[in-house]
Amino acid sequence: MTHGHIREAWSSRLGVILAVAGSAVGLGNFLRFPGLAAQYGSGAFMIAYFISLLLIGFPICWVEWTLGRYGGQKGFHSSPGIFSVLIQHPIGKYVGVLGMIIPVVIYTYYVYVEAWCLGYAYYFFTGKLNLGSDVAAYSTFWANFVGNNQDGLALAKGQNQVVIFLVIVFALNFYLIFRGLSKGIELFCKYAMPALVLLALITLVRVLTLGTPDPLKPDQSILNGLGFMWNPGDVAKQLSNPQLWLAAAGQIFFSLSVGFGVIITYASYLTNRDDVVLSGLSASSANEFCEVALGGLITVPAAFVFLGAAGILGQGTFGLGFNVLPLVFSKLPLPWFFGGIFFFLLFLAAVTSSLSMLQPGIAFLEEGLGLRRKQSVTLLGLITAIGCLFVVYNSKDLKALDTLDFWVGTFLLFVMATILIIVFGWGIGIEKGWKEAHRGSELQIPSFFKFIIKYVSPLYLLTIFALFILFNVFGWNPSTGEFTPSAYISDLVGANPNTAARLSVLFLIIIASFFLILVATAGKRWNNGAHESASEGKKKKEPSI
Ligand code: ALA
Repeated sequence: MTHGHIREAWSSRLGVILAVAGSAVGLGNFLRFPGLAAQYGSGAFMIAYFISLLLIGFPICWVEWTLGRYGGQKGFHSSPGIFSVLIQHPIGKYVGVLGMIIPVVIYTYYVYVEAWCLGYAYYFFTGKLNLGSDVAAYSTFWANFVGNNQDGLALAKGQNQVVIFLVIVFALNFYLIFRGLSKGIELFCKYAMPALVLLALITLVRVLTLGTPDPLKPDQSILNGLGFMWNPGDVAKQLSNPQLWLAAAGQIFFSLSVGFGVIITYASYLTNRDDVVLSGLSASSANEFCEVALGGLITVPAAFVFLGAAGILGQGTFGLGFNVLPLVFSKLPLPWFFGGIFFFLLFLAAVTSSLSMLQPGIAFLEEGLGLRRKQSVTLLGLITAIGCLFVVYNSKDLKALDTLDFWVGTFLLFVMATILIIVFGWGIGIEKGWKEAHRGSELQIPSFFKFIIKYVSPLYLLTIFALFILFNVFGWNPSTGEFTPSAYISDLVGANPNTAARLSVLFLIIIASFFLILVATAGKRWNNGAHESASEGKKKKEPSI
């Protein structure tokens, strides 16, 4: 106990694995991954994807689990607290603020998409989303539902169904987080994870047995759909495209929830005897199964058989899921059933992920400011509600969502992941880190991963990060050698800036400043010995691993 708080813990090993897998399996698996794989000529993309999984996915995952458990043993569960132990310098806790900003900001827009999923499930089950075979009807429905054509539309009177779903998902997330780690997150994931896999398997069987639904279009068969998704195209040419590597690495981060500040927080509730190597591997493998074997085999082949290759490309991250798949389901027998369960499965996957984005903030408010559960849930609820309303209001072209997703959901994820791997391999030192990772573990990580973690992963990350800045931020064109600032920059400082994009960055700066002030306050409390290990009579400053 510290300051009257019940010390939180996971109730079982399976529970924590399912919770981390729940955090990982989300919209990224069923919408983002298939969209990217289709866009980048599948086979080549998969090569870059698996290389990224091996060189940064698994390594950073083990690193986060290990550092999180270590921080937990020192009495900290929030990212600023854990970093104050890992980097024994006053700056450490400020570095850790990234592990709060990232999940809180991603939550503000992720939960909006989660509300779309619940809404679509409801509209399917009630038969309202069977709009015939006109693809435009589905795009119009979606644009009106999310307020894509005009700012403020989603909040306007008479137009506000999405807000109803948003309120429901918000309430559900905060109810579960209020119940705590084992009675809220763990219990929900224990049921939701098997349920979503079951729903995905039902959808998968339906998709794989589609055959050639339109005899007039024999090319649009399910086999060709799978081929479209998986056949390697011109691999050499594709692999020389740096954008493909960026997309593959970014997908690994987003999908595994690494660099979010989530795994480090979840792992901090483990005991020293828990096996982080096996747990990290199991949770990541579960995610990969859901992504590659379920998401990859459902979404694209289903769209392909009805719409052909042209209907799939250029749909963006969520376009495929919300504009195209409803049309696909409307062409199946029992559209209300298959459409309904698909979007309900997306909804479940999204809840287990969004929930995990709240825990880092709760952990910090409790241990940093000494707030009780009710107070910290209320404060975090207020902060995220303001952010979410901001995203919902600035809905034209989903500008706020898109801007925050770029600067936080992509850019800051790279930064955080790079910091984590460097702290482990170089700050603490690979030998000590390796020993700590294997404390209590039955499984031994192959020793070549030492070399990977120390040299290859940081180099790979820094290269990808440099490419990311060059291509996605400064808009470098390798064939002309010119720099044409990408929309993310020109929206902010170009001749025609975009107000919603500018406000989004301002929002980000305000949130970051607010959290930094809170961390400074927390630092003073911790210096006075107010954290778990101190209250348990342990020494406050212990040497690094
Ligand atoms: N890892 C989560 C997802 O894939 C955020 O959606």
